[in-house]
Amino acid sequence: MRKMILINMPQIGEQEIEAVVKVLKSGVLTAHLGNGPAVKWFEAEFRKFVNAKHAIAVNNGTAALHMALLAMGVTSGDEVILPSLTFTATAEAVVLNGAKPVFVDIDPHTYNIDPEKIEDAINAKTKAIIPVDLYGLPADMQVIREIAQKHDLTVVEDAAQAHGAVYRGEPPGCFADMACWSFYATKNMTTGEGGMITTNHDEYADRLRCIRMHGEKEGYKSIMLGHNYRMPEIEAALGCVQLRKLPEFLEKRRKNARLLTEKLGEVRRLELPKEPPDRKHSWYLYTVRLRDADAEMRDRVLNELRKSFVGATVYYHTPIHLMPYYRGSGEQHLPETERAAEQVFSLPVHPGVTLEQIDYIADSVKRVIH
Ligand SMILES: Cc1ncc(COP(=O)(O)O)c(C=O)c1O
Repeated sequence: MRKMILINMPQIGEQEIEAVVKVLKSGVLTAHLGNGPAVKWFEAEFRKFVNAKHAIAVNNGTAALHMALLAMGVTSGDEVILPSLTFTATAEAVVLNGAKPVFVDIDPHTYNIDPEKIEDAINAKTKAIIPVDLYGLPADMQVIREIAQKHDLTVVEDAAQAHGAVYRGEPPGCFADMACWSFYATKNMTTGEGGMITTNHDEYADRLRCIRMHGEKEGYKSIMLGHNYRMPEIEAALGCVQLRKLPEFLEKRRKNARLLTEKLGEVRRLELPKEPPDRKHSWYLYTVRLRDADAEMRDRVLNELRKSFVGATVYYHTPIHLMPYYRGSGEQHLPETERAAEQVFSLPVHPGVTLEQIDYIADSVKRVIH
């Protein structure tokens, strides 16, 4: 019997198991300041990988976003600009710091925040912009950087989906003040749960290390408000192995994405994902758009695919500005965001998807969408 081809699947082998067992045998499972040997090693390797001066490992990507805004001093009365077509955590981080999320519409071709619409949302209360590298395609970071500089704003890049992506020759984070990463189980590389903040600013790095451990620089003496956001040693050990394997994972994702693009090119009703010439996708999600569809038509296609064991999935059905908690008093209308939320769905391209499965996915899509 056929098994569902899942949208994402952790790629765990013997090396990961050995690394975890080694930590267990060492007896060092964590360190008071969150800087045990495996964490330090993972931070050093990740920092090199993204070409950043500092990397601070934490226990998930949501924590990374929360503390990045805390480190730069976002507080009540402030506003932070972000897209609405993203995972809730991006907005949650703003609200957790007492500030107001201000949603800006997306570019319909990249699905990322539309830089041309950012300036209209800036006012005296605006403190930061959080561009999200959605589906693994970097946002237009240089343009966003220039807008931020002009208005004296901080840029926190949500790179949770973008391990291995490239923007104008640079890894995510290079045009931001801080970049936040997730190693959740579905991501291009995983530690089960986990996160990282990368930055070139010494002052932010110092604060982030304090926040990770209850605001302490040394034991039991808090100098600022913090949290317990430490990454366990087991996760860091897992992360080191996964990071070494990442190039191989990325190559497989890229190949699967290219094959799907070749095979689906003739399906007129689908708009396929594009890679602008100045960017390289991480192919975390291969997201297509069903042209001229509404959510009902798209969901019908999705159900048919799922009945055929193709784990097509929608990211995201409900943009954040339309979620009950975030809707607030005034209804905001973001036409491109809302249209995308009704029309997009993603197809599996993770490294575990075989060539035979890619053929099967493409054939199933062609059968369902005439
Ligand atoms: C865009 C985005 N931001 C933030 C997060 C939060 O990361 P985590 O699940 O590790 O808390 C995720 C992933 O889950 C994400 O996809």
